[in-house]
Amino acid sequence: MKDLFAKIYKDKGPLGKWASQAEGYFVFPKLEGEISNRMKFQGKDVITWSINDYLGLANHPEVRKIDAEAAEKYGSAYPMGARMMSGHTDLHEQLQNELAAFVNKEAAYLLNFGYQGMVSTVDALVSKDDIIVYDVDSHACIIDGVRLHMGKRFTFKHNDIESLEKNLERATKMAEQTGGGILVISEGVFGMRGEQGKLKEIVALKKKYNFRLFVDDAHGFGTLGKTGAGAGEEQGVQDEIDVYFATFAKSMASTGAFIAADKEIIDYLKYNLRSQMFAKSLQMQLVVGALKRLDMLRTMPELKENLWKIVNALQSGLKERGFDIGTTQSCVTPVYLKGSIPEAMALVKDLRENHGIFCSIVVYPVIPKGLILLRMIPTASHTLQDVEETLEAFSAIRTRLEDGTYKRLSAAVMAAMGE
Ligand SMILES: Cc1ncc(COP(=O)(O)O)c(C=O)c1O
Repeated sequence: MKDLFAKIYKDKGPLGKWASQAEGYFVFPKLEGEISNRMKFQGKDVITWSINDYLGLANHPEVRKIDAEAAEKYGSAYPMGARMMSGHTDLHEQLQNELAAFVNKEAAYLLNFGYQGMVSTVDALVSKDDIIVYDVDSHACIIDGVRLHMGKRFTFKHNDIESLEKNLERATKMAEQTGGGILVISEGVFGMRGEQGKLKEIVALKKKYNFRLFVDDAHGFGTLGKTGAGAGEEQGVQDEIDVYFATFAKSMASTGAFIAADKEIIDYLKYNLRSQMFAKSLQMQLVVGALKRLDMLRTMPELKENLWKIVNALQSGLKERGFDIGTTQSCVTPVYLKGSIPEAMALVKDLRENHGIFCSIVVYPVIPKGLILLRMIPTASHTLQDVEETLEAFSAIRTRLEDGTYKRLSAAVMAAMGE
């Protein structure tokens, strides 16, 4: 019989195989200093384009102050136990009520982590007779939630309404046999390429098909819509989203998340979300911090305005210089270049070492072979000067990518990899 670990010793996986070249630099890098537009990487100053601190709250003095005061008052333990048992407080309730009002829903429920919460919400919403229809490019937490489902599931092509409709037809036939219902899952903003989920078109299908819609709006919350209530507000269909999800990990610059829906649905979920029933309550420090952040989202529209000033300057600057930024309809700013993984490594090294630009790099298998995706997250704490320096740097690296400089530089990496 084989040792369980045999496969692990043999194959580190499609990303893991690059660990010896990549770790500490391309993956698991250590950004140092206060979270802001400029931080330090390996002792060098870099403009940081890889942190989801959309509204610049992570290091805002008012936020830092309230976080410190809450830590002083409550420590990091309080309250102990799960919400159902001993971890429930007035402030947890207050935050839920304020979040529900902010996203225009009757009720909300807190989640300790977005990832776990999503998995658990999908799990709690369906039983084995139900059918899930979800976007094929969904975030890993949605996929993991769907994995728990004992019944049928169908993917539809990414943001493709025709494909969704085909799958809804299949799902409807199946649901008539099983006696179950249909859950459609999409994202408000797809975090890798930045396009919004076609919520308006999805919702329009409700006239023809009987389904409930669950939207993960991690990147839309705080950044889209007139009041910042997210992609549903932006597209004018917030009321038609049956279960709305957002995390505190992005615009709110913290930890935690929530779901919002009609009161009866939230009342059901709070008794059925296994990740919350059997896990310690969100600690008070985070609850107090979230109340403050939410208040800032409500009362400081300039945060979102500053964010969009930077987003617009960066995206239009890139387009003017002829860069392919795909189909983004959000703050997420992808730049697509053509090249191999070793070329991508040489290019990113040049960006960091010689131009002081730090952005995330995404390669195969996350995107198709031969493409390099530099993913940038503009924030309210960036300046137009940051944008200008970045645009200059991007023009320089494109020249070097096209004249074969990175191919030559990467030869050593390829030789080391035996490729
Ligand atoms: C689309 C999406 N959903 C869910 C999550 C998970 O949220 P959290 O970081 O709170 O676990 C993320 C990442 O933060 C995300 O990008």
